[in-house]
Amino acid sequence: MAEARCRVVVLISGTGTNLQALLDTFAAADSPAEIVGVVSNRPGVGGLERAARAGVATAVVDHRDFPDRAAFDAALLDKVASFAPDLVALAGFMRILGAEFVRHFAGRLINIHPSLLPRYPGLDTHKRAIEAGDSHGGATVHFVTEELDGGPAIVQAAVPILPDDDPGALAARVLTVEHQIYPLAVEWFASGRLALRDGQALLDRQPLPAGGYRFEE
Ligand code: GRF
Repeated sequence: MAEARCRVVVLISGTGTNLQALLDTFAAADSPAEIVGVVSNRPGVGGLERAARAGVATAVVDHRDFPDRAAFDAALLDKVASFAPDLVALAGFMRILGAEFVRHFAGRLINIHPSLLPRYPGLDTHKRAIEAGDSHGGATVHFVTEELDGGPAIVQAAVPILPDDDPGALAARVLTVEHQIYPLAVEWFASGRLALRDGQALLDRQPLPAGGYRFEE
């Protein structure tokens, strides 16, 4: 009998190009992961359409429907858990998750962030990298902990910052590598090669370096 595929739930707030990369990579029935659900905190976003086109179940948990963060967090946890995920992947999910959510999915909760962490956690990463005169921008996939954009890195890819770059141009260049490293991290996890143990990210049982595996195109 074929081994069970890793059940992945993707959380989004917007366009969902990273979601699309995951849907495309794991579309085949014999791939190690299966996107079983997509949950958005915003109704009507492009990522929900991408999921529907791929025949993947969708749900909306709109943060505006809840009196406070704790109530939203609890409802989101229930909805995500209802898909019985092995892995929860944040892909442009623009709400900060509460401690209970993070603890519940600890070790099976990952995020992609558009900077070379630990540089530029938070927002406006490309603008900040350009203004600092950095030679490179990039993206990092990391395990999610209670520290915002601060969990152990899994894989990182750098791209050059060119003289005439504005944040939009750099964002587009970074997105092309995001679409490569997020599927790679999910594949590693799904095939049992990637784990979080005692706060350390391990690939093939070996500790990953602080910035994660250095992806080269
Ligand atoms: C990406 O840049 C991702 O790194 C960040 O949000 C953006 C989402 O883009 N967390 P998309 O919705 O996947 O196109």
